[in-house]
Amino acid sequence: MARRTSVHGEWSSKMAFILAATGSAVGLGNIWRFPYVTGESGGGAFVIIYLICVAAVGLPIMIAEIMLGRRGRQSPLNTMRTLATEEGATPAWQYVGWLGMAAGFLILSFYSVVAGWTLAYTVRTAAGIFDGQTADGVQAIFTSFIGDPERLLGWHTIFMVMTIIVVSRGVKSGLEQAVRFLMPALFVLLVAMVGYAMNTGQFEQAIDYLFKPDFSKVTWEVVLKAMGQAFFSLSLGMGAIMIYGSYLSHTASIVKTATIIAGMDTLVAVLAGLAIFPLVFQYGLAPSGGPGLIFMTLPIAFGQMPGGAFVGAAFFLLLVFAAWTSAISLMEPVVTWLVENRGMNRVKASAWAGLFAWLLGVVSLLSLNVWSGEQFQLFGMPFMDLVDWLTANVMLPLGGLLIAIFAAWVMSRDASRAELGLPEGMGYTAWRVLVRYVTPVAVILVLFNQTGLI
Ligand code: PHE
Repeated sequence: MARRTSVHGEWSSKMAFILAATGSAVGLGNIWRFPYVTGESGGGAFVIIYLICVAAVGLPIMIAEIMLGRRGRQSPLNTMRTLATEEGATPAWQYVGWLGMAAGFLILSFYSVVAGWTLAYTVRTAAGIFDGQTADGVQAIFTSFIGDPERLLGWHTIFMVMTIIVVSRGVKSGLEQAVRFLMPALFVLLVAMVGYAMNTGQFEQAIDYLFKPDFSKVTWEVVLKAMGQAFFSLSLGMGAIMIYGSYLSHTASIVKTATIIAGMDTLVAVLAGLAIFPLVFQYGLAPSGGPGLIFMTLPIAFGQMPGGAFVGAAFFLLLVFAAWTSAISLMEPVVTWLVENRGMNRVKASAWAGLFAWLLGVVSLLSLNVWSGEQFQLFGMPFMDLVDWLTANVMLPLGGLLIAIFAAWVMSRDASRAELGLPEGMGYTAWRVLVRYVTPVAVILVLFNQTGLI
C-alpha cells in the first residue's frame, strides 16, 4: 500500500509529536481532576487501580490510536472509514469518529470553564489576594468565585478564544514551539511544589493516603472512575491522539513514543497528588472536597510561603498552558473533519467548533450557580458533573473499546504489525493480546456493569 500523507501537515520531528501528545495528555486531568477524583474515591486503592488501567488498558489503546491515525492520515472519522473499507469491513466504523467528535465537544465545553478558573487564579494569586489567608478564607474565596456567573463567563470566553486562535493557525507553528518550553517548566514547578508540601505539610500521611490501598473501599464505581480517569488523562477514546498520530512521520516508533507519553502523564498526576494531599491534611481539609480541591489547597501554601504570589501565579499560569495544549487537541478532530468534509478553511472551522463548545460551556457554568438547584439536575447531577461523568466514564471508554476492537479484530495482523514496525515476537504479541482480549473484556465488564448499558 502506498503511504498516505496528511493534507493538514506533519510534525517537524518525532520530538515535536511527543511534546504535542504529552501536551494533550497532561492537563487539567492530571492536576485538577486526578487529585479530587482520588479524594472522592478514597485514596490508595483508587490509585492502584488507576495505574493498572493505564498499563493494561490505556497504553495499548494509545498505541492503537496512534497506529490508526498514522495509517489513515485524515480526521478520525475519515480515517476510520478509509481503514474499514480497506480491510473489507463496514464503513459504519466511521461512527467511532462521530462519537469521538461529540465527546470532544462535550469535554471542551466544561474544560474551558475550569481552565477559566485557572486563568482567574493566575491573576488573583499574582495580585496577592491569598497572602496570609487561612484555609477557611481560601475556601470562602473559591465558593464566592464559583457563585459569580459573570466572572466565570468572562474567563471561560477568554480561554475559548485562546483555543480558537491556536487551532485556527494550525498546530504546527504556534504550539510546537510553545510546548517545548512550557512542559518542562510545568514539571519543574510541580516538583518544587512537592518539595514545599514535603517540608511543610503532612507528607507521610499523604503517602499513606495515596499509596496504601484500602481494598474495602473498592466498589465497581471506584473501578469505573479509575478507568474513566485513565481515558480522560491520556486523551484516549475520542480521536485526539489519533489525529496527532496522523501527523507523525512513518519512521517514528509508535510503541516507544506512546510509552513515554503515558509515563509522563502518570508521573505528573502522581506529583500533583503529592503536592496537594500533604496540604489537605495539614490544614484539616476534606480530601473529598470535590472539583475545588486544588483551588482550595494550593492557594493556602502560596499565601504563606515567601514569594508565594509569584510562585503561585507562575504555577497557575503553567496550568493554563497545560490546559491550553489539551484544549487544542480536543478541538482538532472536529476541525480537521470540517476542513475535509465541509470544505471550510481552518479559521472558519475553529470558530464554529469553538462557538458551539462555548455555548455548551455556558450551561455548565450556570449549573454551578444560577442553575445549581435540584430542579435543574439531570440524573441527579448538576449539568457540569453530568457532562464530565458521561464523557470520561462512558463515551471515552466506549470509543476506546471500539478502537481496540477495530485495531485488533478488524485490522489484519500484517497491517498492524507493519504500521507498528514491529517484528513477530514477544512485544508485538503482548500488545495484540492486550488489545484483543484484555482491554475489551476489562472495558466491557466495568462499563456495562456500572452504567447499566446492558
Ligand atoms: N488529557 C487531557 C487532560 O488530562 C484532557 C483531554 C481528554 C484532552 C481527552 C484530549 C482528549 O487534561
